[in-house]
Amino acid sequence: MFRVLVSDAISEEGLAPLRASAHIDIVQKNVSEAEEQLHTFDALLVRSATKVTEELLEKMPNLQIIGRAGVGVDNIDVDAATKRGIVVINAPNGNTISAAEHTFAMMAALVRRIPQAHISVKSREWNRSAFVGNELFGKKLGIIGFGRIGSEVAKRARAFGMSVHVYDPFLTKDRAEKLGVSIHSLDEVLASADIITVHTPLTKETRGLLGTDNLAKTKKGVYLVNCARGGIIDEQALIPFLENGHVAGVALDVFEQEPPGDHPLLSFDNVIVTPHLGASTVEAQLNVATQVAEELLHFFEGRPVTSS
Ligand code: NAD
Ligand code: MLT
Repeated sequence: MFRVLVSDAISEEGLAPLRASAHIDIVQKNVSEAEEQLHTFDALLVRSATKVTEELLEKMPNLQIIGRAGVGVDNIDVDAATKRGIVVINAPNGNTISAAEHTFAMMAALVRRIPQAHISVKSREWNRSAFVGNELFGKKLGIIGFGRIGSEVAKRARAFGMSVHVYDPFLTKDRAEKLGVSIHSLDEVLASADIITVHTPLTKETRGLLGTDNLAKTKKGVYLVNCARGGIIDEQALIPFLENGHVAGVALDVFEQEPPGDHPLLSFDNVIVTPHLGASTVEAQLNVATQVAEELLHFFEGRPVTSS
């Protein structure tokens, strides 16, 4: 019998392939609730809330595989897991469309000031002149990081009549042409874009990618969107650019610390926020759960796993 600890909220329907196996025992508890049993599990399934640290791995000597129902593996100490011979798998494309749609929704909400107008009408005001926005049509969208999500955002932007300028060192000319976008250096994207959205992973190279120096290279009145990972835009560096009006507005789904607590960025009227909802759709959660559940089954059956 393989014992699987599911320690975060993961789509029940997606877990069905695991439940169907007579050889798999699933326990749904968070890590503290399962404290006394941690040593008994062969597999751990997480989303974002569980931090899979070296300390946790020490308490799980039987662990063979960790599955993350999402794209990044940044809440997992992959080096510590690898040292112990534990396989780490994820679901790299199950939430791509949801994350791209959320990015687009945030971008549209940002330039039309929808959250601010919503709060105003709910407060029984009717102040049409206070919420004059901008069109997306005809604007230059700068996309930094053109993988699965960045390219889906580009398709939607093209449909809205935007021109798309991309910076991604790994993007080929062929692929760019196929998607109707143009390749540029980072400095060119920074200098030309009306709206910049980031879609890279958070790495040593991308942490603080939009910091003081690069923010200073952007156009006055630029809008910024981060629905990828907190820290790609340096939150502290952003503050003076909002204070002096250089940055017209920011949409954030992700933060350096989640939850962000009483963060100074939350006090700006032109900073709109969501609590890391990019992948929070029924469809994406079913996709990612099904993807990791199937991979886990393959692993237990001794078949190759593909998403690690
Ligand atoms: P991906 O791996 O398909 O694409 C990432 C792209 O970034 C690649 O094309 C890569 O070449 C590029 N890149 C890497 N380093 C770069 C750099 N220094 N400069 C420019 N480009 C660089 O990943 P994806 O599936 O598109 O996901 C992108 C990000 O979105 C990840 O951080 C992921 O964790 C995050 N994400 C967030 C949510 C959410 O809920 N908000 C949901 C899904 C994914
Ligand atoms: C991911 O990495 O897939 C996203 O950030 C979504 C999530 O954490 O659920």
